[in-house]
Amino acid sequence: MATDPADRVAELRTAIREADYSYYVLDDPHLTDAEYDALLRELRRLETSHPELLSPDSPTQRIAGTPAGQFAKLRHPQPMLSLANAMDVAELREWHARVERLLDATAQVAFVVEPKIDGLAIALTYQDGRLVRGATRGDGEIGEDVTANLRTIGGIPLHLRSPQPLGLPLASSIEVRGEVYMRRADFSALNERLAAAGEKRFANTRNAAAGSLRQKDPQVTAERPLRFFAYAVGPFSGVELQSQWQTLHYLRSLGLPVNADARRYEDFEAVLSFCRDWMSQREELPFEADGMVIKVDDFAQQRELGVVQRDPRWAVAFKFPAREAVTRLTAITVNVGRTGVLTPNAELDPVVIGGVTVRNASLHNADYIGERDIRVGDYVTVKRAGDVIPYVVGPVIALRRGDEQPWNFPSHCPACGTLVERVEGEAAWRCPNFGICPAQLVRKVEHFVSRGAMDIAGIGERQADQFVSAGWINDVADLYSLKADQFVGVEGYGPKRIANLLEAIDASKQRPLDRLLVGLGIRFVGSVAAADLARHFGDLDAIVAASEADLLAIEGIGPVVAAAIGNFFQRTESRHLIEKLRAAGLQFTTSPAPRTSDSLTGQIFVLTGTLPNLTREQAGALIQAHGGKLSESVSKRTSYVVAGVSAGSKLARATALGVPVIDEAGLLALIGHRPGLEQL
Ligand code: IVH
Repeated sequence: MATDPADRVAELRTAIREADYSYYVLDDPHLTDAEYDALLRELRRLETSHPELLSPDSPTQRIAGTPAGQFAKLRHPQPMLSLANAMDVAELREWHARVERLLDATAQVAFVVEPKIDGLAIALTYQDGRLVRGATRGDGEIGEDVTANLRTIGGIPLHLRSPQPLGLPLASSIEVRGEVYMRRADFSALNERLAAAGEKRFANTRNAAAGSLRQKDPQVTAERPLRFFAYAVGPFSGVELQSQWQTLHYLRSLGLPVNADARRYEDFEAVLSFCRDWMSQREELPFEADGMVIKVDDFAQQRELGVVQRDPRWAVAFKFPAREAVTRLTAITVNVGRTGVLTPNAELDPVVIGGVTVRNASLHNADYIGERDIRVGDYVTVKRAGDVIPYVVGPVIALRRGDEQPWNFPSHCPACGTLVERVEGEAAWRCPNFGICPAQLVRKVEHFVSRGAMDIAGIGERQADQFVSAGWINDVADLYSLKADQFVGVEGYGPKRIANLLEAIDASKQRPLDRLLVGLGIRFVGSVAAADLARHFGDLDAIVAASEADLLAIEGIGPVVAAAIGNFFQRTESRHLIEKLRAAGLQFTTSPAPRTSDSLTGQIFVLTGTLPNLTREQAGALIQAHGGKLSESVSKRTSYVVAGVSAGSKLARATALGVPVIDEAGLLALIGHRPGLEQL
């Protein structure tokens, strides 16, 4: 292991890139999550104490941009095409016959077959191996610049590998095209998390991928489990590529994830049987595929076949049949979530859809049921969009007999009987009995003890329900007052189990502040935002006292998240809960960062604008590590304003008051980072 910080930073970056590569490209992880996190933490620490070593393509710099008001539009240098569909084998044969007819009769035609991943198409521009831009497909001509968001996707390399093993050069410039998607298991977990946070679930993996990528705040995108498959190139230079098959190998050698299920066939019957096999296996895939894409392999033949409107004649999508079924809706029940949101759920006569027996389906919300006039007793079309909860598409009116019952949303919470309220501007109804409604409390406890939060083994949905029904706990803090004698005589609790449970609860008091923040269940505050809050404020009381402006000063926290945090801590029951947690002895502070020097002691800094290399968090940490203080506003007492690009009123005020203004290099010079500045 290198001892020189610069060498160690290089070593860590290589190790992290290799780990990303084995995880996302080879699909063969060689580090555990904990090992990976440890490397990333060490790298972050080194970059904070040696900011001259930072570089924008460091794996720590995936979340860089600040929330975009709107995505800038950009024109694709070459239109991004779409595909004509073949709905069955007969149509596929017709497509093949036309390809043969249009090409020279003596030509040998080979085909590449790839799964058609259900996500959204994007284009990534790499210059000299560095990711410089990423865009959505949009209408094929004009897309949106989502670079900051795409950078947060682990499978998208910020830096290409050398294609050496293939004997091809690294393209000086290349546009890589592919699909951003979400795996089914990740999609289910995300939906659960959203539902638990009182937010809307996504209907399918495609919407989830698109919705997650098009977030205004890259921080939110970073928390979404997005993946990427590369399957084509746009304009490129500095390398010669002759076929689709060669291109896929080239992309893979550059360190881009390429679907391992792609095949090349010279015999069209083999193409057909590969498609048939896939159709029957689609349930077993970790991702959602809505068909297969068949492409003529040779680029010269592709050019000969050409493009009609937006559809190339050299490719076709073989669509899998939709996974739907019709069954009877026997009842509608209502579930209560952690934040009180009520969600209607359809109970169905069991029906097999794509090999899975379906008994329940989502009805989304009251408006959904009303707009579609879904009635109890209706025959309904049910669709399985992913691996998760199927949903009701709508009633089959032709099958109505006249005894179906229109359904009205309950006026009272099914769990506590409180009059429900409509959330203004949202489709959701809520039980406003916050903190008291037993159904909400059970969900809150489940969330508090979950792995990403306080991680208390031995408590799950059943136990949460049990503790709440027994009246043992009225909020999550009451977990810390549970006593052994309460369990005596309760079925399933022997002395050993009771001891283990109380020990696990006690051990959770040592969880760091960020985990406690996750556990509180503040809307939009997931693990990343919680870690930022903990790092920035270092103390729960400071977070509680923070104004919206203080919160907005954290890079990656936008107005919506800041408002949610503010609202949470303003509520009396939140304040009360925090006092109980304090009394129970939980960790309210993070251990302070080590002091590097006292060179800035007594000096007050104001940061404004975007610095070229350091994030605001890093610059702030650096100032504090050298004994300096940070302030949000410029006054005569301010020692320096550190200004970056698009600095606004603070810069103007500094000039007016005669406060010295320095840039990032100036800041580094102040703390004695003279050598190596040119490396920045
Ligand atoms: S090729 C001809 N390959 O399908 C070039 N597209 O309906 C068109 N898609 O917009 C793209 N997997 O979002 C291609 N292996 C694959 C694909 C794929 C999914 C999507 C892509 C495209 C749409 C066309």
